[in-house]
Amino acid sequence: MKKAKLTFDGKVIELDVIVGSENEIGIDISRLKTDSGFITLDPGFKNTGSCESKVTFLDGENGVLRYRGYSIEDLANNADFLEVSHLLIYGELPTKKQYKKLLVDIQERSVLDEDVKKILETFPRSAHPMGMLSSLTSSLVAFDPSSVDVTNEEEMYDAFLNLLAKIPILVAWVFRRRRGLPLEYGDFSQGYVENITKMMFKMPNKKYVENKVVVNAINKLLILHADHEQNCSTSTVRIVGSSQAGLFASISSGISALWGRLHGGANQAVLEMLESILNDGGDISAYINKAKDKNDTFRLMGFGHRVYKNFDPRAKIIKKAAHEVLHDLGINDPILDIAKNLEIEASKDQYFIDRKLYPNVDFYSGIIYKALNIPNEMFTVMFALGRLPGWIAHWREMRTKKEPIGRPRQIYTGEKLREFISIDKR
Ligand code: SDX
Repeated sequence: MKKAKLTFDGKVIELDVIVGSENEIGIDISRLKTDSGFITLDPGFKNTGSCESKVTFLDGENGVLRYRGYSIEDLANNADFLEVSHLLIYGELPTKKQYKKLLVDIQERSVLDEDVKKILETFPRSAHPMGMLSSLTSSLVAFDPSSVDVTNEEEMYDAFLNLLAKIPILVAWVFRRRRGLPLEYGDFSQGYVENITKMMFKMPNKKYVENKVVVNAINKLLILHADHEQNCSTSTVRIVGSSQAGLFASISSGISALWGRLHGGANQAVLEMLESILNDGGDISAYINKAKDKNDTFRLMGFGHRVYKNFDPRAKIIKKAAHEVLHDLGINDPILDIAKNLEIEASKDQYFIDRKLYPNVDFYSGIIYKALNIPNEMFTVMFALGRLPGWIAHWREMRTKKEPIGRPRQIYTGEKLREFISIDKR
């Protein structure tokens, strides 16, 4: 085992060094407080690893993303989302037999208690869909309070399949509630993403005709969003699950974390930004200057990334898919031109070059969702649907490894001890 040495205050502390399967180096500080009495400090955990994981590998310098060793390019171009879900959760692509069993087992679990509809109907139609989805996911515990015995593979399989069956129904219901449409069930045996698309778009007054362009676009987007190692929402799922909170409660917390506009909520913010640039006459340089202005809180949404200091490989795939989907659907959306020109202008600007700010997964995805008649406020719900298998995979990995409860330390910088003064003397 390689060692690192830390010298401070006349002390020399030896720390183990972990080398990952892709030669990443981690200095193990799990004994630092015990051996030295002090801790490290790293707001936002920019330099801190929370765990060892076998699920996903990111190389931010070279724009590499792999799920269980398979490249995101290979998976996005060849797999379907249910295969990728099995890969992330169980570590292997399913055989044909396993895949067929998945569809049957998901169909078996694809019913929600009718009282869930009553909870949904209590929300104002204008409620943000992410708030509805997070609350409804949490409510599933009320209808299925049994906690998952993580030592029992069958119980975990049942819980995971419950989520893979029920969350798409909640997504479709939230989408339809806002449009005042009847709440549909579907038939997953017709295909997982096929059924998700049908549950969302089927109209009560006409025969549903599947549009393969739409299904393929949603399939690709769900795969591209399926996991991204220890991002904010996945870390939230892991830390909530580490207290032995239930799986549904952990996933619900991940949905809430994803909602933030610096994270999954960025895809909605990108479209709103592009639409305001278009409405302002397409003055891209004005928005680039706003993003650079330290006195202006405005940021170029869909740009920058904590890990990628190069192009986000998902953004490359989505940018190409946006072209294809708009062409196949015969849509000419000026927003795509605004996005492309914004990308070109930013790529030539020293501020963005110096800070290695490139388009991320959220920059082009909204253009496709819009072309599929999915409204802006539903974009992050689609992100959550995609990220579900990744959250499950990390929850499973953390719980089966019996990782300790997540409880970071701090450096106190507040008042020293002081005497209480009664109110009549204050
Ligand atoms: C996702 O972590 C994941 O893996 C997330 C994700 C996933 O799949 O789970 O990939 C999904 O969340 C993608 C990111 C979506 N968010 C956005 O597009 C929002 C806009 N981008 C940012 O706010 C920002 O880039 C973050 C939040 C993505 C990353 O922030 P960091 O790593 O904390 O970097 P930072 O805020 O410290 O910025 C470093 C510098 C600062 O300038 P200086 O103080 O050094 O002068 O870059 C600047 C920032 O002001 N900067 C930007 C910018 N992003 C960073 N300036 C203008 N526009 C931006 N978008």
